[in-house]
Amino acid sequence: MDKPATSLRGKVVLVTGAAKRIGRGIALRLSEEGARVAIHYGSSEAEARRTAAECGTDLLFRANLERVDEIERMFAEVGERAGSLYGLVNNAARFTLRDPLEVTEADWDFIHNVNLKAVFFCAQQAARLMKQSGHGRIVNISSLGGLRPWAMHAHYCASKAGVIMLTRALAKAFAPEITVNSVAPGVIPFLDIDEAGLAMIRSTPAARGGTPEEVADAVVYFLKASNFVTGQILAVDGGLSLK
Ligand SMILES: NC(=O)c1ccc[n+]([C@@H]2O[C@H](COP(=O)([O-])OP(=O)(O)OC[C@H]3O[C@@H](n4cnc5c(N)ncnc54)[C@H](OP(=O)(O)O)[C@@H]3O)[C@@H](O)[C@H]2O)c1
Repeated sequence: MDKPATSLRGKVVLVTGAAKRIGRGIALRLSEEGARVAIHYGSSEAEARRTAAECGTDLLFRANLERVDEIERMFAEVGERAGSLYGLVNNAARFTLRDPLEVTEADWDFIHNVNLKAVFFCAQQAARLMKQSGHGRIVNISSLGGLRPWAMHAHYCASKAGVIMLTRALAKAFAPEITVNSVAPGVIPFLDIDEAGLAMIRSTPAARGGTPEEVADAVVYFLKASNFVTGQILAVDGGLSLK
């Protein structure tokens, strides 16, 4: 029987897009839990190095997640340098505002290549490594936008709804050794928040935006849970999805 990981101490967990913002918050929290955090970044090298230093890790990986060959190369390096992989947090993503009447093929691919295609291929590569040790945990960061329709973000909403269905389908495909779950954040504000984001915060039952630490709490829950918790979507949104 699969035992829950009561501790993440010494376990290797890769966080994609971990240089800044929510990914950085997840990485720091995992480090506090004693995990051996592997930091992925795309272009934010200086910030990624800072996050890695604060996490006390030398596991730092750069990859353009738009490219499956770069994803495969990164996971080969993770296997070589870390020796094993217990957890993957698929956090990296893109977010754009576009009128659906104006969305081009390039706009669509810009979002879906990272938000959905990369999530699938990172999960595939991670699962191959995890199967070698007999167990693993994958946590996909989706979004309230995958649960609720936002008119000017239809392309983004579709990508995140895809992440939610991927989570459920891969949970079945990778069971019983590997669990696949998803955290769906509501509004987690940073300095660049726009008026639409502020309006969403005003209508959030909790009467505030969330924090990276609150998203990280949910990630830690899924990483520690037994394989009896899989294919689940946990909204961390102050109740906004109840509307
Ligand atoms: N912030 C919110 O309010 C909110 C709400 C709901 C859901 N979420 C979800 O929560 C997660 C984190 O949100 P966030 O706002 O912190 O994200 P973010 O800052 O927009 O993006 C996180 C990281 O993704 C990486 N990334 C994007 N495209 C990449 C590519 N082609 N190759 C490699 N890395 C790439 C970037 O890394 P580099 O900088 O290194 O290039 C970026 O720092 C995302 O999945 C997001 O959809 C966020």
